[in-house]
Amino acid sequence: MNSSTKTETLALKGGRPVREKLLPYGRQSVDEDDVWAVAEVLKSDWLTTGPKVAEFEEAFAERVGARYAVSVSSGTAALHAAAFAAGLSEGDEAIVPPMTFCATVNCVLYQGATPVFADVTEDTLNLDPGQVAAKVTSRTKAIFTVDYAGHPSALEELREIASAKGTLLIEDACHALGAEYKGKRVGSLADMTVFSFHPVKHITTGEGGMVTTDDGRLAETLRRFRNHGISSEARQRQESGQWFYEMAFLGFNYRLPDIACALGLSQLGKLEANLARRREIAVRYDRELRDLPLILPVVRDGMRSAWHLYPIRLRLESLPARRGEIFGALRAENIGVNVHYIPVHQHPYYRKKFPAYEGTLPIAENAYEELISLPMFHCMTDDDVADVIHALHKVLNHYEEEKSGEHSRASTGRRAE
Ligand SMILES: Cc1ncc(COP(=O)(O)O)c(C=O)c1O
Repeated sequence: MNSSTKTETLALKGGRPVREKLLPYGRQSVDEDDVWAVAEVLKSDWLTTGPKVAEFEEAFAERVGARYAVSVSSGTAALHAAAFAAGLSEGDEAIVPPMTFCATVNCVLYQGATPVFADVTEDTLNLDPGQVAAKVTSRTKAIFTVDYAGHPSALEELREIASAKGTLLIEDACHALGAEYKGKRVGSLADMTVFSFHPVKHITTGEGGMVTTDDGRLAETLRRFRNHGISSEARQRQESGQWFYEMAFLGFNYRLPDIACALGLSQLGKLEANLARRREIAVRYDRELRDLPLILPVVRDGMRSAWHLYPIRLRLESLPARRGEIFGALRAENIGVNVHYIPVHQHPYYRKKFPAYEGTLPIAENAYEELISLPMFHCMTDDDVADVIHALHKVLNHYEEEKSGEHSRASTGRRAE
């Protein structure tokens, strides 16, 4: 307990906030090199699919240790493309975790297939292989696993289940660029791995996404899917003096333009530094929050998290307030906390479509009541990190004292009776 914060009045109750201005939970950092990289493309012949697409894809594939990388316009488009390439369609099932952004599950519905929710494990909040094994059927075409907060999924166990059942393993690594599983890089381990370049992620292209795979046929399908189902690209046709093209299947325009790929290439050069900074922040949070009534994120042996998020869980039994009030108190201190996630099956759309899941995924449902994501982004300063730590001590000490006051009033009251 940090005694210096003991007597501070919460901003929620009229005290002075820890910060003058809101610290967001995540944000991009774009420097002069990035701006120049984009400006060069703006002056070139190709704004959309030009040379920067292949350059970014090759550099990305090399960084994650995959044979192929296919860029698309968002992480959501990457999930949709992966669901299509996996052959998901009506009558098929795909296993999905509830503790994720809704896009992971929506992509199954885009293909007309049925998502089957399996619960997560208590420590990492990643898909529980035991639950997956219990839910796989002859209709299961794919298992979607999510590397929640940046911690790799139980990939060996999931791969074993997927191989035994002849289904594909698709890893939603939108949180996990740069994460490692037993010394191997996320992006090289599942049949297809999906990334996002949204501004709060480890590198950004504004909007953008990537699918990596070692399978040449899947890569070719992904490339066509992002381009209307057409086999060649306009630049290839121009270079070879051809006009002829054919649409082989129904695809989309999910292309990531050269402008964005130039930004992605420039950002990729900073990935190591970004990861190092996130890891440094996580170490400091671990060290300076450990005495509070919290469950801090766990990193299993042999894993390296990419720390997209730093989700804490409140020990509500030690606090007289619920998550909503503590969240509000931290926001009042101008700490831009967030919550990841409302379990997908509990969103109104999913409740209506699949009402039977309510109450059947207790680990995700209970975790949701306790979760708060702290600010975590690579350009946070040491002072920003100190403010988050200060605000947590201030707020949680306040509520702990309130709880112990309640206890002593209750026991004094009992003695007087
Ligand atoms: C786990 C997960 N999957 C998918 C997505 C979708 O990515 P995008 O926003 O790039 O479409 C996100 C985005 O936040 C995500 O966190």
